[in-house]
Amino acid sequence: MTLKRITMKQAKENIGQEVLIGAWVTNKRSSGKIAFIQLRDGDYYFQGIVLKNEVEPEVFEIAKSLTQETSVMFQGVIQEDTRSKLGYELLVNNIEVIGESHDYPITPKEHGTEFLMDHRHLWLRSSKQHAIMKIRNEIIRATYEFFNTQGFIKIDPPILTGSAPEGTTELFHTEYFDQEAYLSQSGQLYLEAAAMAFGKVFSFGPTFRAEKSKTRRHLIEFWMMEPEMAFMHQDESLEVQEQYVAFLVQSVLDNCDYYLDVLERDKEILKKYTQLPYDRISYDEAIELLNKNGFDDIKWGDDFGSPHETFIAKQSERPVFILNYPKAIKPFYMKEHPDRDDVVLCADMIAPEGYGEIIGGSEREVDYEKLSQQIESFGLSLDDYAWYLDLRKYGSVPHSGFGLGLERAVTWITGTEHIREASPFPRLLNRLYP
Ligand code: 4AD
Repeated sequence: MTLKRITMKQAKENIGQEVLIGAWVTNKRSSGKIAFIQLRDGDYYFQGIVLKNEVEPEVFEIAKSLTQETSVMFQGVIQEDTRSKLGYELLVNNIEVIGESHDYPITPKEHGTEFLMDHRHLWLRSSKQHAIMKIRNEIIRATYEFFNTQGFIKIDPPILTGSAPEGTTELFHTEYFDQEAYLSQSGQLYLEAAAMAFGKVFSFGPTFRAEKSKTRRHLIEFWMMEPEMAFMHQDESLEVQEQYVAFLVQSVLDNCDYYLDVLERDKEILKKYTQLPYDRISYDEAIELLNKNGFDDIKWGDDFGSPHETFIAKQSERPVFILNYPKAIKPFYMKEHPDRDDVVLCADMIAPEGYGEIIGGSEREVDYEKLSQQIESFGLSLDDYAWYLDLRKYGSVPHSGFGLGLERAVTWITGTEHIREASPFPRLLNRLYP
């Protein structure tokens, strides 16, 4: 009889069945008569039990000799185990070692961050890192579900580009035959073109910022979700943003319970983030609030630093929108406020618990003349942006969009201290390997 190979995801449908399971050893404990082997199979962490009196003598010997990260094919019977997080364990009958592992560098003892980052290719196997990546995957899955069911289509903007939507100081330059090109900072300008073709579009792809900042919120390469919507003003866009973020949190609560437990994330706090609407505060009010509360290091016209954002976010139990920033500190494409020429129709969504900005978005300038002036005043060439200006010449409509930084969202929802753990292989100021 050939046995069925399953993963522990299918344990529930296989209780009492003899099956094969491929797994890696994470730890082991054995007494004279029984060996407890801690295992992981890619989805879950679970226990295999080997009883000396129930198996061939050589099987028990193999069980006793298993080392950390040895890969093994186990034959055994699935049984319920109410004491474990997963609820199931494997009563092992036979063991076939697939790949040996000796002197695995990451041991159950504490390691420093630099050591772990040097071993990121192995660190990904650890339960906490594994849980963060599983939740990252759920956020990606839920993003596709949300936008596809709301009538958006996915459009993939180019990665190699000649445009600089978010300012010229943070660009990665590269040669493009005999021209200069950049790695994309944002797909937005292309998405605006696509929104005029398809109405509601979104992209999800890698973006690059040569930011020399070494903070727990900045990556050099990060993934961004960018929806762009025709016939849509900024206030309607804010509703899409809060619905989207609440949907992400709810999806993680619904589908990642086990991984939230691994991370010891407080689910009651997360539940609050699914309640809408989120509070809105204007930039002007935010400055006033900060000044009234002893922050004398910031005045109207300055951008917020992380302590400022944290203080503003603390005024609410949920994410907060800060609206209408000064024109001078925002990109060229944002629409001027209809009643004021010193602020633009934009918003940043600030996550609670000190996680900072997770979304930046705005209504886009549609006035041809104003946009041309803006492009020039930012030192950009009108020729390079002629195609973008065309969008304002041929059937222009009010439109808005936003960008959510995937790793920022993952860091916040998983309750992780540093953004580097929200990316499988993070690119940081001083790190290109592994
Ligand atoms: O606010 P940003 O720069 O907005 C844009 O790029 C717009 N073009 C988006 C749009 O309207 N289509 O970036 C959007 C989000 C931020 O809120 C943050 O979550 C994330 O991208 N982000 C970063 N994440 C990690 N590391 C960095 N260096 C980031 N810079 C921005």
